[in-house]
Amino acid sequence: MKIAARFLAALSLAVSLAGGAWAADSATALVNLDCVKCHAQPPADIAAAGGAHKTSVSCLDCHIGHPPAVKKPIPKCSMCHSDKPHYKLAGCLSCHKNPHKPKDISFGRNVTDPCLSCHSGQIKQLRENKSKHTALNCSFCHDVHGKIPLCTQCHKPHSSDMTAADCKNCHKAHMPKVVTYGSSLPNKNCAACHKNAMSFLSASKTKHGKLLCVTCHQNKHKMLPKCQDCHGTPHPAGILTKFPKCQDCHNIAHDLNNWTSKAPVVKAKKAAGKKRQ
Ligand code: HEC
Ligand code: HEC
Ligand code: HEC
Ligand code: HEC
Ligand code: HEC
Ligand code: HEC
Ligand code: HEC
Ligand code: HEC
Ligand code: HEC
Ligand code: HEC
Ligand code: HEC
Ligand code: HEC
Repeated sequence: MKIAARFLAALSLAVSLAGGAWAADSATALVNLDCVKCHAQPPADIAAAGGAHKTSVSCLDCHIGHPPAVKKPIPKCSMCHSDKPHYKLAGCLSCHKNPHKPKDISFGRNVTDPCLSCHSGQIKQLRENKSKHTALNCSFCHDVHGKIPLCTQCHKPHSSDMTAADCKNCHKAHMPKVVTYGSSLPNKNCAACHKNAMSFLSASKTKHGKLLCVTCHQNKHKMLPKCQDCHGTPHPAGILTKFPKCQDCHNIAHDLNNWTSKAPVVKAKKAAGKKRQ
């Protein structure tokens, strides 16, 4: 459109608005380029962050009519968005605060249900693994959409050499009481709470002293291994019937007796093994 023509159109609109007589005839009908002449902010917002409301629709697709002919030409979101659970929520503008910047989203710290219109896995984990996190609102932790909080925003680490990055070695946010870990977790993670076990093990001169805590206590917190899970039947059956607990002779796993000479039982077993061959 020529600049002069736009000016004339705006002028005639101004005249008709001033006179209170809105004429909808095509000669004076508003076009999208007119709006900015009287409304500075919406076009500026759309230009800056309109997203699909800039590229897929125009002012006039949403604002059908204009005062005084149409008193409140404000569209309902449902005019165009209606086919997903998310679009059934109440109060679209409570999060999408400005329809001219539809992706600028903000909300308070007490939101849960609206999140579930798009995310379903987390609430399932939270409810199936009850903890004090289950009672918190999603946005109590995720106060900005998409932001992942650090555990240490709200909690102290178990020891001073543990950092925020260590928490996920053992905890998941949506099931924090289910403590699991991989097979290479350094011992210092456990030592934060188990000083005795750590000091016995690190003082041990036996081969157990070189093992990781999690080599024996595998996968899940409080898992207790049995000696025979790893050692099978190391001594003749007679010995083990007489002394059913390995600990009777070997002491505890973290602090095995450190014998310097081979015991007769072991020699006997080895000899027996040789004879059989
Ligand atoms: C010549 C100036 C002028 C132009 C051009 C103009 N408007 Fe307006 N607009 C006004 C005025 C003045 C009002 C307030 C009218 C009232 O409240 O009765 C208004 C009101 C509105 C409202 C209602 C606001 C509310 O709070 O209810 C909307 C929406 C609107 N205009 C959109 C547009 C769009 C979209 C365009 C371009 C297609 C446009 N306007 C072009 C002057 C203009
Ligand atoms: C996707 C639909 C949509 C588009 C596109 C859109 N608007 Fe709006 N506009 C709205 C809604 C919804 C409101 C009411 C916002 C509210 O209630 O806070 C609104 C409010 C307004 C208002 C009144 C309040 C204010 O912010 O001043 C004006 C004026 C306005 N729009 C002009 C425009 C202009 C000009 C354009 C094009 C550059 C435009 N709008 C594009 C949906 C739209
Ligand atoms: C006139 C039709 C129309 C109206 C009214 C409308 N929208 Fe849209 N909106 C669209 C279209 C078209 C798209 C792009 C396709 C899609 O995502 O469905 C879109 C996309 C969006 C997007 C994604 C933006 C992006 O860049 O990806 C959001 C968020 C959105 N709309 C929110 C709203 C809200 C909130 C309202 C009510 C205040 C609203 N819309 C009203 C037509 C509309
Ligand atoms: C609790 C806050 C909240 C409310 C209430 C809300 N939205 Fe959203 N909306 C969001 C978030 C968060 C996104 C995701 C943005 C992203 O993809 O990064 C979104 C995305 C969208 C999108 C684009 C992506 C898509 O899935 O289509 C549209 C369109 C949309 N909302 C429309 C609406 C409408 C319409 C309403 C009201 C019926 C509404 N929203 C209510 C928070 C909200
Ligand atoms: C309209 C759908 C929609 C709504 C409503 C919505 N989200 Fe999202 N959310 C998304 C999409 C899409 C992504 C991007 C997904 C991706 O990157 O894999 C996302 C990403 C996220 C992420 C980051 C995921 C990651 O892997 O980094 C978090 C956290 C999140 N949303 C939390 C929330 C919370 C909390 C709410 C409620 C306040 C919410 N969302 C509401 C659609 C939505
Ligand atoms: C925004 C704050 C916040 C963030 C972030 C957060 N928590 Fe929490 N957490 C809480 C609150 C509040 C409680 C309940 C405290 C109470 O009642 O004593 C809690 C409780 C816990 C509990 C005890 C659960 C129970 O039922 O006894 C564990 C374990 C926990 N958090 C671990 C974590 C871990 C690990 C992370 C990171 C993945 C994390 N938290 C992130 C706020 C937070
Ligand atoms: C106690 C704080 C807290 C609460 C409450 C919380 N989250 Fe999270 N969320 C996190 C943390 C931390 C992560 C990063 C992953 C982890 O540490 O397990 C995360 C990750 C996510 C992700 C990324 C994908 C994934 O599952 O790892 C999404 C999406 C998400 N949360 C959505 C939600 C929703 C929806 C709710 C409410 C039903 C919710 N969160 C409740 C702290 C929380
Ligand atoms: C080596 C695994 C491990 C790591 C790493 C770990 N935790 Fe824990 N955490 C646990 C165990 C096990 C418990 C449960 C103790 C109990 O039963 O009392 C626990 C309990 C908690 C609790 C609830 C009890 C309390 O002490 O208040 C919070 C909160 C917590 N952890 C936060 C964290 C944070 C924050 C981090 C990262 C800095 C972290 N944890 C790293 C294993 C770990
Ligand atoms: C946040 C502190 C904390 C951390 C970190 C922690 N634990 Fe524990 N652990 C505890 C508490 C508390 C108990 C229960 C003690 C009791 O019942 O007397 C416990 C018990 C145990 C038990 C004994 C279970 C039983 O039935 O006697 C084992 C084994 C254990 N933890 C191994 C580990 C290992 C291995 C790690 C490192 C991967 C670890 N713990 C990390 C706090 C922790
Ligand atoms: C998770 C597997 C595992 C468990 C459980 C386990 N051990 Fe071991 N143990 C080992 C490994 C690996 C070695 C080193 C073997 C080698 O290097 O030849 C070892 C070595 C030993 C040795 C020889 C020590 C040395 O320095 O020569 C004795 C004795 C022993 N274990 C006894 C026990 C007893 C008793 C228990 C139960 C209280 C036990 N073990 C539990 C894996 C395990
Ligand atoms: C060689 C395997 C092995 C290693 C390595 C090991 N443990 Fe154990 N742990 C056991 C066995 C077996 C028991 C059961 C009691 C026993 O026979 O000693 C046990 C018992 C425990 C207990 C409960 C009894 C107690 O002593 O409080 C805790 C806690 C524990 N271990 C923590 C740890 C930690 C922390 C580490 C690493 C510093 C570790 N363990 C390394 C095998 C091991
Ligand atoms: C009656 C005492 C006694 C009992 C009970 C006993 N052991 Fe032993 N075990 C010994 C002696 C003594 C040695 C030899 C120490 C050496 O070779 O340095 C030994 C050696 C071992 C060795 C090292 C073998 C090698 O070739 O280096 C392992 C592993 C072992 N025992 C595991 C066990 C397990 C597992 C149990 C329980 C099922 C058990 N022991 C019960 C006394 C006992």
